[in-house]
Amino acid sequence: MGPLLFLLLWGLHKVSGGSELLQRSFPFHGLQISSFVNSSQARTDCLAWLGELQTHSWSDDSDTIRFLKPWSQGTFNLQQWEQVQNELWVYRLSFTRDIWDFVKLLKLTYPIELQVFAGCEMHPGNASESFFHVAYQGMHVLSFQGTLWEAAPGTPPFVKFVVKELNLDQGTREMIQQLLNNTCPQFVSGLIEAGRSELKKQVKPEAWLSSGPSPGPGRLLLVCRVSGFYPKPVWVMWMRGDQEQPHTRQGDVLPNADGTWYLRVTLDVVAGEASGLSCRVKHSSLGGQDIVLYWAGSHTSVHLIVVLVVLALLGLSAGLIFWFRRRRSYQGIL
Ligand SMILES: *[C@@H]1O[C@H](CO)[C@@H](O)[C@H](O)[C@H]1NC(C)=O
Ligand SMILES: *[C@@H]1O[C@H](CO)[C@@H](O)[C@H](O)[C@H]1NC(C)=O
Repeated sequence: MGPLLFLLLWGLHKVSGGSELLQRSFPFHGLQISSFVNSSQARTDCLAWLGELQTHSWSDDSDTIRFLKPWSQGTFNLQQWEQVQNELWVYRLSFTRDIWDFVKLLKLTYPIELQVFAGCEMHPGNASESFFHVAYQGMHVLSFQGTLWEAAPGTPPFVKFVVKELNLDQGTREMIQQLLNNTCPQFVSGLIEAGRSELKKQVKPEAWLSSGPSPGPGRLLLVCRVSGFYPKPVWVMWMRGDQEQPHTRQGDVLPNADGTWYLRVTLDVVAGEASGLSCRVKHSSLGGQDIVLYWAGSHTSVHLIVVLVVLALLGLSAGLIFWFRRRRSYQGIL
């Protein structure tokens, strides 16, 4: 629950800027999950992503970081990579030891769940931005800012004590600055270069309309499904002309088995007001040529009418044939 909430909050923070939607940027983030069961049992697992692609994982029982992509080492050579791995290994060891010390000192109670969300993002023109946030029991408690640790607003008093103590440790602060200011941006620009062909992959969506279960008497649920697109950012909206329909409801963007994405977007309308509505899809693979699908009345009732007419005609012709046959047989008798 806690970890999910924390992830969700950072996820929202990342997604909310609608205007940057179609622009590609590849933030690199690592998530560290540390569970402390008691004063002798703890584990730390880590995951890392470049944009929406998972690139590394690091299990508690392993000394080495696992590559999840053929290009996960970026442009670092073996020696550079081993140096980074070694620094992170030392960090993991001292993190666990420090937490045990703090828990004893502050008389906190187990179990304790800590998460670290850290990484960097390259901006155009050789600039980069780094971040390092820590959550305790699912709540953001402190961050590394510039050269110092800072408590997040509204955290319990013991966090201020921890921040003061951490700031006395010059060595760790320098190591973190080195990692955030230099190692991370260097590694990530190499990673983007090495993974270029996979990162620039574009797959066009397909879209289709249907009606969902009726939301109530005299109402229609218009459903617009968009599937098979890559990368993940997409914009789908029910429109009337140029007017976005504010009651459009978006589902979650869900993964397809082949690594592409799927999204379902619905609109609940009064049945008589459905015609003239359209579903508009914007995606980077479409090169500005949005997909626009118009709601053509109620598809099912059109089909039904066709079927009824055909049945009626068949019935009529069967009746006529029967009538002619009877007439002929009467004629035979007469
Ligand atoms: C790292 O970057 C921060 C700004 O984000 C700066 O205040 C700090 O001095 C830098 N440290 C080093 C060692 O470059
Ligand atoms: C930024 O630009 C300088 C000079 O062009 C270059 O030496 C350096 O490697 C660049 N840094 C990154 C992180 O690309």
